[in-house]
Amino acid sequence: MSRIVYVNGQYMPEEEAKVSIFDRGFLMADAVYEVTSVLGGKLLDFAGHAARLKRSLSELDMASPCTEEELLAIHRELVAKNAIDEGMIYLQVTRGNPGDRDFAFPGPDVKPTLVLFTQSKPGLADNPTAKTGIRVISLEDIRWGRRDIKTVQLLYPSMAKMMAKQAGADDAWMVEDGKVTEGTSNNAYIVKGGKIITRNLSNDILHGITRAAVLRFAREAQMEVEERAFTIDEAKAADEAFFTSASAFVMPVVEVDGTAVGSGKPGPIAARLREIYIDESLKTAI
Ligand code: PDD
Repeated sequence: MSRIVYVNGQYMPEEEAKVSIFDRGFLMADAVYEVTSVLGGKLLDFAGHAARLKRSLSELDMASPCTEEELLAIHRELVAKNAIDEGMIYLQVTRGNPGDRDFAFPGPDVKPTLVLFTQSKPGLADNPTAKTGIRVISLEDIRWGRRDIKTVQLLYPSMAKMMAKQAGADDAWMVEDGKVTEGTSNNAYIVKGGKIITRNLSNDILHGITRAAVLRFAREAQMEVEERAFTIDEAKAADEAFFTSASAFVMPVVEVDGTAVGSGKPGPIAARLREIYIDESLKTAI
């Protein structure tokens, strides 16, 4: 079924949506994005995603295409027009179309390109994979040094995902200087002796909106949290492992490089955090 998408101020059927071949998002990956989940027709953590978008834009000296209020209105309009109950809203802002190819940034007369579309995912909250968990392999992290900015430079994460599939796994955890940075499109965690361990925030990883919420809920539930980098050997020897992202919430990881983590089944802390995250996020969904 054709979706109604949003391009630069207009709603239209996806077949009619067009962006110039000179758009810097296309030519230079000069663009940032956000993915916001929808449950029960409502947006999860919109304020967090809007705040990170603002930061990504400002770190790249890119103009904001509209206000946060306007962004919220567009998100809601797309949810309504496409009757999304469970799914995601993808948003991308590029530095726009200067009408030619040039490495230098264009002047302020070139307006940013703003594109949003919906992805309907019925069963997102009740995802059966959360009951079985996923398997990861480890790979060297060869991405650039500003992973805190949510750019559309996703070629290596895509390659990593394909390498994981070729190895019979589901995803890859990337490793730099012997420590796990993050998953291809998610933040990585282990649990040892009841303690939740996840890499501390820096330019090395994306500052996950789901990560922030999950750590807040974990602390509120009196769970112990340690923000530090961990190794693949620690992950293999952990009691549990899991990842978080806006599209998967909290997802158990049951195998790392062919070694079963803990019992080899999703652990109780990941299951509890998934439940808390979905329940609590629904309470504040807008
Ligand atoms: N990915 N790390 C990376 C590299 C990511 O791409 C993502 C999100 C995360 C988790 O961030 P958040 O909790 O804010 O979704 C961490 C999105 C979902 C994607 O690319 O589809």
